[in-house]
Amino acid sequence: MLSARDVSVQFGGLRAVDKVSLDVMRGEIVGLIGPNGAGKTTFFQAVSGFVKTTSGEVRFCGERIDGVAPERICRLGLTRTFQIVEVFPSLTVRETLTAAALVRLPLAEARRIAVSTAELVRLGGKLDLTCRQLTLPDQKALEIGKAMATQPRMILLDEVMAGLRPSETDEVVRLIRDLRDRGITFLVVEHNMDVIMGLSDRIAVMGTGRKIVEGRPDDVVRDPKVIEIYLGAEFELA
Ligand SMILES: Nc1ncnc2c1ncn2[C@@H]1O[C@H](COP(=O)(O)OP(=O)(O)OP(=O)(O)O)[C@@H](O)[C@H]1O
Ligand SMILES: [Mg+2]
Repeated sequence: MLSARDVSVQFGGLRAVDKVSLDVMRGEIVGLIGPNGAGKTTFFQAVSGFVKTTSGEVRFCGERIDGVAPERICRLGLTRTFQIVEVFPSLTVRETLTAAALVRLPLAEARRIAVSTAELVRLGGKLDLTCRQLTLPDQKALEIGKAMATQPRMILLDEVMAGLRPSETDEVVRLIRDLRDRGITFLVVEHNMDVIMGLSDRIAVMGTGRKIVEGRPDDVVRDPKVIEIYLGAEFELA
């Protein structure tokens, strides 16, 4: 579904993403992990059209999308969430989801989709609360809802679980699995190893701009290179 080939992103003298290739198949949940500053968010930005790739090629469902504007990529069915929750505090859940659905749909239909999307992400009873009235887990659900309201085929999730307690994390994990069962494909950046191990069919690891390892979760956590650059010796002993 998504195919990145030798994608690089240069910020002045810094090569934040260095020839990264990654494929995600339809219906998969792929994890993308690595230390702070490894280039995970920048890779998402490049794939979703928010920053320009310096070189390489990105295809979504066979179509070239590098250099294509984010709104157009979104209309093709690839959407992303932001690492920092981005909501307008004074808008209601209904208004927020309607605004997201407008990327694709006329107003009347967008309003209808807002309601069904709220149900889907378990905010059905909170349609008329403002974003500032939501708890953090509900804000995360809304973040996923905003992505779902654009009726995507694939979602890039950037640390959507950050700041949640374990029980709250479990709920978001269930939601993601649920959406996958409904046919959505996911590429997920997450620092919580338990979460990413449990959720992912496959994991890719980035270190300073490069993809260093890719494989099944069990193999990836045992890989000496991954332990060295990311997990540390503690994890090896654990
Ligand atoms: N717009 C930008 N301009 C210049 N440098 C940037 C920009 N965005 C990111 N960088 C740099 O690119 C590198 C990769 O950053 P990025 O945010 O992609 O890392 P990350 O893997 O998402 O890290 P984290 O786990 O902390 O979110 C870092 O050195 C960062 O400082
Ligand atoms: Mg990041």
